[in-house]
Amino acid sequence: MAVNIVLLGPPGAGKGTQAKRLEQLYGMVQLSTGDMLRAAVAAETQVGLRAKAVMDAGNLVDDEILIAMIADRLEQPDAKRGAIFDGFPRTVPQAEALDRLLAHRGSRLHQVIEMRVDDDALVARIAGRFTCKSCGAGFHDAFKPTKQAGICDACGGREFIRRADDNAATVKKRLTEYYAKTAPILPYYRARGALKTVNGMADMDAVTTAIAEILGPPPAESTH
Ligand code: AP5
Ligand code: MG
Repeated sequence: MAVNIVLLGPPGAGKGTQAKRLEQLYGMVQLSTGDMLRAAVAAETQVGLRAKAVMDAGNLVDDEILIAMIADRLEQPDAKRGAIFDGFPRTVPQAEALDRLLAHRGSRLHQVIEMRVDDDALVARIAGRFTCKSCGAGFHDAFKPTKQAGICDACGGREFIRRADDNAATVKKRLTEYYAKTAPILPYYRARGALKTVNGMADMDAVTTAIAEILGPPPAESTH
């Protein structure tokens, strides 16, 4: 049966980093609403045009846009093998909508994993982050530099991008939004026993191990 999990945590907690690893280990698909919105901004779609200023200011994009986006994405065949929700839900209405969307497809949410990281560490992580323009592999100036300066470890690409919302003022606003609007989801999931917390301050491998302990051993055939 397809397993659906949510990675919940503040900006820079490591949701994207761990989602990519879990995708490889367990075979579910990473659904990052931040990545989807950034693709919409780059393609200058209606949604992208509306979302750009909101994202650049560190605010949350409207629930109705996000819920429609995830509903569409869940229709695609790869979502049938289960999803790792990265950055969604971010408000209580989004959490309620996700329950409805999954139930409508005869499925449910199996586990919500909260990644806890101190605010100071979050700022340091976000400030040093960059990704390969060609393949999207993620790096960090201090915590995960490329093996050879200026060359992507994964694909050999030589161009890198830094996110428009990764500046000090916007990060502060993103953190405020997290504590005001996203943290209230925690009791929603805790109340039904679906919430587990991992120490996101540990190194990347230790965090993956902690999440794998919660999820149980990956099915042998899904390691790809
Ligand atoms: P989104 O793209 O989701 O950004 P975010 O939640 O702010 O989180 P980040 O992507 O910044 O961090 P992450 O947790 O993925 O960390 P990462 O693995 O990169 O959203 C962006 C914007 O889109 C929002 O502000 C909002 O406007 C909009 N949006 C998106 N979804 C929405 C929704 N559902 N509703 C409304 N609006 C929405 O790691 C960070 C860095 O740290 C990396 O460099 C990494 O290498 C490093 N690192 C990771 N783990 C470790 C570790 N264990 N130790 C040391 N370094 C580490
Ligand atoms: Mg991310």
